[in-house]
Amino acid sequence: MSERYSQSSETFKKVEEIKKSDLSDNIKLVASKVLEDKPPSKAELVYLLGLKDSQERKSLFDLASCVRHDNVGDTIFVKGIIEFSNYCKRNCLYCGIRSSSKIERYRMTKDEILDIAIEMSNCGVDTIILQSGEDPFYTTEMIVDIIKSIRETTQRPVSLSIGERTVEELRIFKASGASKYLLKQETVNREIFEKVHGFDYDTRISLLKALVDLKYIAGGGNIIGLPDQTLSDIADDILFMREIGVRMAGIGPFIPTKGTPLEHYPIGSADLTLNAYACTRISIPLVQLPTTTALGTIDKNLQYKGFEAGCNVIMVNFTPDIYRKNYRIYDNKRKVEFYETINDLSKMNRRLTSLIEKAVLNQR
Ligand code: 5AD
Repeated sequence: MSERYSQSSETFKKVEEIKKSDLSDNIKLVASKVLEDKPPSKAELVYLLGLKDSQERKSLFDLASCVRHDNVGDTIFVKGIIEFSNYCKRNCLYCGIRSSSKIERYRMTKDEILDIAIEMSNCGVDTIILQSGEDPFYTTEMIVDIIKSIRETTQRPVSLSIGERTVEELRIFKASGASKYLLKQETVNREIFEKVHGFDYDTRISLLKALVDLKYIAGGGNIIGLPDQTLSDIADDILFMREIGVRMAGIGPFIPTKGTPLEHYPIGSADLTLNAYACTRISIPLVQLPTTTALGTIDKNLQYKGFEAGCNVIMVNFTPDIYRKNYRIYDNKRKVEFYETINDLSKMNRRLTSLIEKAVLNQR
């Protein structure tokens, strides 16, 4: 047994319960490994990812919840996102803001971004996430200026989700006060990656590793349900994220989007996405794991179900409506609204940070 779980821990008790049950040897073996601080093997992950609604799947989710409880606690972290530009130089086959999409484009000014960051900070969000397409209009200096202003004004952690930049730029952004960076690998299957993105797989992977080396709280993540993707690919994604040391994982189902080359391709499975959450939590116990907007776009309650599968983060959207309607990375993208979300979470008796609790009280 590892140092991680004492005999009185929830994880220890859950593992004992699973071992005594009449569930499969597979899940019993996985449960024992959790106690030893070992990830499931690839074959075990494939098995778990494939679980259909059953007692066994419920036990996997319960195990993931115990692992979350013992490692990161049960507080749900509410992060706020500003989608500040929908210009993108990339042409990813699945994405609604790909360069060849004929959509109305917008860019927000530093002052607009800062005003929203202040609003988010007043709401008590845990982190201010700046997201955009890959938009070279925003120079290194401009991004630095935005990061510094937000940090000086709000003191909140700043997370970047602006696509690929040079390692030198990543270093400069970190030195300017950005502490987190999300750059999803989308899939570690090289063939699928290159087919849907049309750009270099090795660069993406090396930049994600550079973020870890630069001591960012680095985020990876993948899309569930890309063309030709198998359970084995998803198991590889989870093991890859563990191996390179990402500390956040954004995992969401593929959503077909009109006007893109994949518009007629089937939607990714919500059940598989939830299984991937549980598998990621037991494989990377300390990970910050959002239950994603893409899952909430299929059904709001499915997004909340993520909290039963080991997730501990939700991202709420602060992009002004005039812009948000054009930040259509996929169709019918759910607006995860701040007050609605915290009220729902309160009703579900989910624990929130004290800053958010204050916002709940203030609205009354
Ligand atoms: N379906 C699901 N996720 C998508 N993303 C972009 N387009 C889609 C889609 N059609 C995700 C990618 C990207 C993040 C910002 O949104 O994973 O990293």
